[in-house]
Amino acid sequence: MSPPADGSLFDDDWLTLREPVDHASRAHGLAEQAARWLARYALPTVVDLGTGSGSNLRYLAPYLGPDTRWRLVDHDEKLLARVASRSGQAINQTVATEARDLAHELPAAIAGGDLITASALLDLVSQAWLTRLCAQAATQRSAVLMTLSVDGHIRFDGQTEADDAALLAALARDQRRDKGLGMALGTAAPAALINELARHGYAVTAQPAVWHLGPQRAALAHALLTGWARAAGAALPEHAERFTAWATRRSADVAAGRTVIRVGHVDVLGLPGRDFGG
Ligand SMILES: C[S@@+](CC[C@H](N)C(=O)[O-])C[C@H]1O[C@@H](n2cnc3c(N)ncnc32)[C@H](O)[C@@H]1O
Repeated sequence: MSPPADGSLFDDDWLTLREPVDHASRAHGLAEQAARWLARYALPTVVDLGTGSGSNLRYLAPYLGPDTRWRLVDHDEKLLARVASRSGQAINQTVATEARDLAHELPAAIAGGDLITASALLDLVSQAWLTRLCAQAATQRSAVLMTLSVDGHIRFDGQTEADDAALLAALARDQRRDKGLGMALGTAAPAALINELARHGYAVTAQPAVWHLGPQRAALAHALLTGWARAAGAALPEHAERFTAWATRRSADVAAGRTVIRVGHVDVLGLPGRDFGG
């Protein structure tokens, strides 16, 4: 149970573990704003990019009307196959899945979307990909809601650890490597999205969505720390063992209440501006 091994494939257990914390952390006001904007359409189409097993659908669906039509896009068919069983009867909207590689099929994936959304995807994408996304969204006059994008703010409350800084520096290197969608923006993605949307005349709102991982979230914290240590070890193999030991110590700190990890994310909503008739 851990964050991605190769950077583009994700473990379903990891997505399941993070889902309740993701939902609690999100900027709920942005979902309300997006829903109000979508209410202008009789049959609104929402495209969710990098759906995984459907966390963003389950979060957003209660805000949206029964006539909403969802298109859920991911390259991992196994994750998409889990959406229905995970969501049960709770979703009374029309839901379709599309297996696509967003490196090559972005235009078809987002064509016709009134709202283009994603959760926990943006750190994987490149500036060129984001530029293409925002250009097409502006042409279509689609709203854009990109949530739970890491912003690089990571804090360990309480005692600092000698290896915290080394681990975080190595992790930052891993976050910038190519994960199938070009050189990844990593933690620079939220600012890049805001700039691109503003350039196209969007009204943009950004709000924090911070994870607070204390003893009640020890399982998620352990999976996160283990994944960070693996990613940092891949970036600096000569320090891999040191990072593994660090994750073990830091997991014990969280479980014992000696530290709380704060992981910063940003939620961004862009609504087509007056120039676009929005
Ligand atoms: C961190 S997961 C987030 C999943 C889900 N949105 C959530 O919040 O639980 C990122 C998702 O992006 C998908 N993904 C990564 N690269 C992709 C690509 N090139 N094309 C399509 N989907 C991709 C992965 O399969 C994974 O489901």
